[in-house]
Amino acid sequence: SDPFPFYGPHQAGIVTPAQDRLHFVAFDVTTTKKAELVSLLQEWTAAAARLTQGKEAGSFGAAGGDPEAAPDDTGEALGLPASGLTLTIGFGPTLFDDRFGLAAQRPAALADLPKFPGERLIPEISGGDICVQACAHDPQVAVHAIRNLARIGFGRVSVRWSQLGFGRTSSTSRAQATPRNLMGFKDGTANMKLEDTELLRDQLWAAEQDGSAWMAGGSYLVTRKIRMNIETWDRASLREQEDIFGRDKGEGAPLGKKQEFDAVDFAARRPDGQPYIAEKSHVRLAHPSAHGNAHLLRRGYNYVDGSDGLGRLDAGLFFIAYQRDVRKQFVPIQMGLAKNDLLNEYIQHVSSGLFACPPGVQDAGDYWGRSLF
Ligand code: HEM
Repeated sequence: SDPFPFYGPHQAGIVTPAQDRLHFVAFDVTTTKKAELVSLLQEWTAAAARLTQGKEAGSFGAAGGDPEAAPDDTGEALGLPASGLTLTIGFGPTLFDDRFGLAAQRPAALADLPKFPGERLIPEISGGDICVQACAHDPQVAVHAIRNLARIGFGRVSVRWSQLGFGRTSSTSRAQATPRNLMGFKDGTANMKLEDTELLRDQLWAAEQDGSAWMAGGSYLVTRKIRMNIETWDRASLREQEDIFGRDKGEGAPLGKKQEFDAVDFAARRPDGQPYIAEKSHVRLAHPSAHGNAHLLRRGYNYVDGSDGLGRLDAGLFFIAYQRDVRKQFVPIQMGLAKNDLLNEYIQHVSSGLFACPPGVQDAGDYWGRSLF
């Protein structure tokens, strides 16, 4: 398949039909010089323009340069195609502190997330000044891209945390079949999708009138690493599992309906008078009707980070969501879920990330975040 274009009004990797694999990284900026930060972004942009087209990170490549110098590509993707690679950058709230004189540019929509009931966030795998999301059909290609950006950034940024994901848990286009998360349920059915042009304009892309002109055409990203208590879940009855989500496990249809894409009817009642879709079910609480019509573009991945030494898989969902304003979208939705979702018995939020993803790169003379600097 053809590589996804790197240049355009929006960054690739947001409405791009979700690829199968993820390597997500958050960096801390270690240089205190703004000029060094800007030149890093320029070098990264040039490398990303090449990598996403299936080329090596630098023009000499892994085996073609000066034998006395370190190669400008690490080599493990030699011979592999672009594999649908997209690279998407975002700037965390901490980039807007005093270090680089950017405080006045911090978008209001990049509001710090409140503390949510029940979360147990691990600081070492949360936050970050800059993130890069690499998505591809081949994990080797995604990892190669992140590794080379980290290599280029040596001395100016350091890796704060990173996360691999192996199976998409969302579709972002109607052309895609809905995948399943590690609880075995179809995930992404009611997602905001590429084809929902008007909804994307209203609820995905930041606009000039939102207050931060440099973000026009960009989007705000929230990541949450959500551990699943897999072993407990696997002993829950099918009926309980379906009641938790409000959808059936096989087809993914709303309870009381037949097919995956049938409209949800929250008023419908079973013969015993109980609602088909429980009051505290995930889909009822997350539904736009519960939050002033707020939608998210979900783009998460399954993860398994080995085991925890206590006989359990260290597994779950690396949740990724894009939106126009976290104050109107992620925050109220997650507050509702954190307080009431039946799913909470089986999950735990362990990391959190928040980033402003700038608009796309226009051409070879442009670079990631130029409008900010
Ligand atoms: C819907 C799973 C966390 C927001 C769904 C669905 C499933 C699911 C199976 C129904 C199918 C679909 O429409 O995609 C999970 C799991 C989670 C999780 C396993 C954690 C491990 C979250 C979080 C949020 C969220 C943290 C946002 C704060 C939504 C939304 C919908 C949804 C907005 C669509 C509701 C609708 O319009 O019907 N989720 N989810 N989910 N989820 Fe989650």
